[in-house]
Amino acid sequence: MAHTEINHGRRRLLIAATSVVGASGTAAIAAPFLSSWQPSARALAAGAPVEVNISKVEAGQLLRVIWRGKPVWIVNRTEAMLTDLPKNDTNLRDPASEILSQQPAYAQNAHRSRNPHYLVLIGICTHLGCSPTYRPEVAPEDLGADWKGGWYCPCHGSRFDLAGRVYKNVPAATNLVVPPYYFKDDNTILIGEDGNVA
Ligand code: FES
Repeated sequence: MAHTEINHGRRRLLIAATSVVGASGTAAIAAPFLSSWQPSARALAAGAPVEVNISKVEAGQLLRVIWRGKPVWIVNRTEAMLTDLPKNDTNLRDPASEILSQQPAYAQNAHRSRNPHYLVLIGICTHLGCSPTYRPEVAPEDLGADWKGGWYCPCHGSRFDLAGRVYKNVPAATNLVVPPYYFKDDNTILIGEDGNVA
């Protein structure tokens, strides 16, 4: 049985949700839309967009879904997280998202997203493809006093901030990838298409 997963950093909480699992066992979408829009397993595997209900993602939480067999994270960033974002810039390799391959044009901004509060990322380390760990806490002992939240890759130690921007002096060379997506309405994100609105 598949699930939609909300990750509070080290603490995991599974929320009630129904998922669709494709032939590969990896494709999942959020439940509330199954009745109105339900792509086949084959369509999902081929890259059909995934519709996600974000209404239950509380501030600071991470929702994990699968699109094209890849993990996609949606984080509801708090005001404090957004306030802290620019404070990292001097420690980052590409703070202005100048490597265009890492995000659509509408996410080439200070928060790397269409809506500042909702960050959407492909959850694969840009070094060798491990899955980084969500570490939203500020200044935890193991990550140091300057840590303002982000992701830590356990494989070789790459670090990314809460916009998915890579730190300097780590193995990963580029920011985490922002997939194409758009908001169908305030509570619904469609991952896999850019939509009509820039
Ligand atoms: S795969 Fe993430 S640091 Fe190497």
